[in-house]
Amino acid sequence: MKLGIVIGSVRKERVSDRVAKWVAKEAQNLPDTEVVMIDLLDYPMPFFDEAVSPQYNPKRETDPTAKKFIDVIGSLDALVIVTPEYNRSYSSVLKNALDYLDFQLQKKPVQLVAHGSTGGAQAISHLRAVLPGLAAVTNPTAVMITDRVGNIIDEEGELGEEIKANPYGPQSTLKAALADLKWYSDALASARK
Ligand SMILES: Cc1cc2nc3c(=O)[nH]c(=O)nc-3n(C[C@H](O)[C@H](O)[C@H](O)COP(=O)(O)O)c2cc1C
Repeated sequence: MKLGIVIGSVRKERVSDRVAKWVAKEAQNLPDTEVVMIDLLDYPMPFFDEAVSPQYNPKRETDPTAKKFIDVIGSLDALVIVTPEYNRSYSSVLKNALDYLDFQLQKKPVQLVAHGSTGGAQAISHLRAVLPGLAAVTNPTAVMITDRVGNIIDEEGELGEEIKANPYGPQSTLKAALADLKWYSDALASARK
């Protein structure tokens, strides 16, 4: 499985990158898995302004940076989206990036991972409403981090030992979610052939 992990925040003082690194470490334990980090900071796309909706525009000419993002997403079997919650939703930079896609996530599984002062539940629920627009399949198990990320995950993506050992904590939720994601990825990859 070629697994992409999108970092859904571009703030200078962001913590989403810590969460993404934590996810990447756990994902490396999955069998036959290559992990690709997709940092939206590396894809500074303009606000989407194409004349026609991408799915109805087979000859679209898109912004070159957006094209790189589109191509990397198209190369994946599965995607993890790491997003903060901003004003009761997910980040606008992430919405802008998603609006550039046409069929790159069609019939592919997406794992949602959110964090925020209240755990990011509304960011998750809004993404669950949006991703069907791209024909993606979301894993029913989402990962929500209710603790302040800066207090529990260091800059290298290491979760604190005590919280890691909690059988009901985020590490076990993530492990189970990624195992599910691999299951969906294998099932859907074989069905897409
Ligand atoms: C503009 C803004 C709005 C926010 N709104 C919410 C919110 O509605 N709900 C929530 O749980 N956290 C909210 N937060 C807290 C962020 O989710 C939290 O600080 C998160 O760690 C930010 O992720 P980042 O550092 O990767 O950008 C908000 C933060 C910002 C900057």
